[in-house]
Order: sequence, then structure tokens, then C-alpha cells
Amino acid sequence: MIFLGAPGSGKGTQAQALVPNLGIPQISTGDILRAAVKAETPLGLEAKAFMNRGALVPDEVVIGLIQDRLVEPDVSGGWMLDGFPRTTVQAEALDQLLEKLGQPLEAVVLINVPEAKLVERLTGRRTCMTCKRVFHVLFNPPPTTIPFCDDHADCPSELVHRPDDSLDVVIQRQAVYRDQTEPLISYYEQQHKLHSIDGDRPAEAITGELKAFLG
Ligand code: AP5
Repeated sequence: MIFLGAPGSGKGTQAQALVPNLGIPQISTGDILRAAVKAETPLGLEAKAFMNRGALVPDEVVIGLIQDRLVEPDVSGGWMLDGFPRTTVQAEALDQLLEKLGQPLEAVVLINVPEAKLVERLTGRRTCMTCKRVFHVLFNPPPTTIPFCDDHADCPSELVHRPDDSLDVVIQRQAVYRDQTEPLISYYEQQHKLHSIDGDRPAEAITGELKAFLG
């Protein structure tokens, strides 16, 4: 399945909440790219400038990432894509790849949140750089006890405010979403795969609706 929605709509939050329930991995192109930036790999060095100014990384780069990721053994039972596809070119490439792999796309979940709320969510977001869990200074404060993570004894090793979560870059990312990603709503409506949900509610209520929908 795919999570579609504006920056800050809660794609990552919902995908993380569903991993234990569905037992399939979350694949976040943003997380993969940020790891490459941190490790200063050639991919990271290429992606960094695009990300920091709120632009999309070129299609061929992210399509290559997904082609490599969808053949890894842990995704053979399914996957949740978070942040991909983001352009019509990426969506068409994904359709072709899935046909080649013989994997069906079962659902595209669109999370709807008013734009004013998105800005508030992103400017208050904090992310653990080890386990990638996301928090919010007001809506979902990080636990004060350490360690807070069952999988990593050192979490939070580093809670960061992402460089692209500054107000000017957030505004740019919302504009990029409207121009380049919103057309995917009708793309998937035409495939009869789109399921829209109200994302302007507590995260737990949204997770509950998703669990019911995904069975
Ligand atoms: P990426 O990391 O994918 O960022 P994004 O799509 O902008 O999405 P976010 O991670 O900002 O938001 P989210 O919807 O996951 O919200 P979250 O759950 O964290 O991409 C970053 C960059 O990488 C892009 O700008 C681009 O440069 C590049 N990139 C990535 N993929 C690409 C691609 N396919 N093609 C080209 N370039 C690509 O929640 C946000 C906050 O809200 C958190 O603090 C959370 O705690 C809080 N929150 C969540 N749900 C709720 C709720 N219901 N109520 C209140 N608060 C909530």
C-alpha cells in the first residue's frame, strides 16, 4: 500500500503505528535519503541541496532507490510506501515495476489535513535519528525516560528538528506538494485504489480507522 498526503499529514506516524499490526515494513524515501545525507554518500551529497530547499530529489534517483528496495527479502510479504511516489513519472514507474515483480498495489491511503495545521505540525516535529520515531513538542511529546525504545537501548540518541522543517522550507514543500504530488489523487482515483481519510483527528483515531479498513 501507499500513503499519500501533504508534508506533515501523518504518513510516517501512521505507517510506524501499523508496522507491528500488519507485520510489513514501512519504506520511507525521506528516511532513506536522510540516512544517505548523514553518511555523506554520493547519493546523499546529490540529494542534500534539493531536500534542504524543499524541492524534490530527481525522479530517476528515487525510482532507482525503490527499484532496489522492493526486491529485498523483507518486503516479500508486503510493504507500506511513505513518501513515494510523489510525481506522475514516479507513479508510472512504480506501476511498471510492480507489474514486472508480479506484486499488486492494493490500496492508496490519502490523509487529508488542512494546510494551516500542517505548518504547526512540522515546525513542532522532533525526530529520533536512531529509530526514526516522530514526536511533536505539543501533540506527541517524546518520553522523558531513557531508553524509550524497545529496539534500541540508546534512544533517543539524538532528537532533531529537521532542517527542512523551518517555516520557509515548510511553505515551499507544501507548494511542491500541490504542484507535483496532488495530481496523483486523480491518478489513483482512476485506478479505483484511493481511500481518503480525515487526518485532522488524534493519531490513535486515524490508526484505528486504518486497522479496520485494512482488515
Ligand atoms: P519526507 O521525509 O517524505 O517528508 P514529507 O513527505 O514532507 O513528509 P513528512 O515526513 O514531513 O510528514 P509525514 O506526513 O510523514 O508526517 P509525520 O507523521 O512525520 O521527504 C523529505 C524530503 O525528501 C522531500 O522534501 C524531498 O526533498 C525528498 N524526497 C522524499 N521522497 C521523495 C520522492 N519520492 N521524490 C522526490 N524527493 C523525495 O507527522 C508530522 C508531525 O505531526 C509529527 O510531529 C507528528 O508527531 C505530528 N502528527 C502526526 N499525526 C498527527 C495527528 N493526527 N495529530 C497531531 N499531530 C500529528
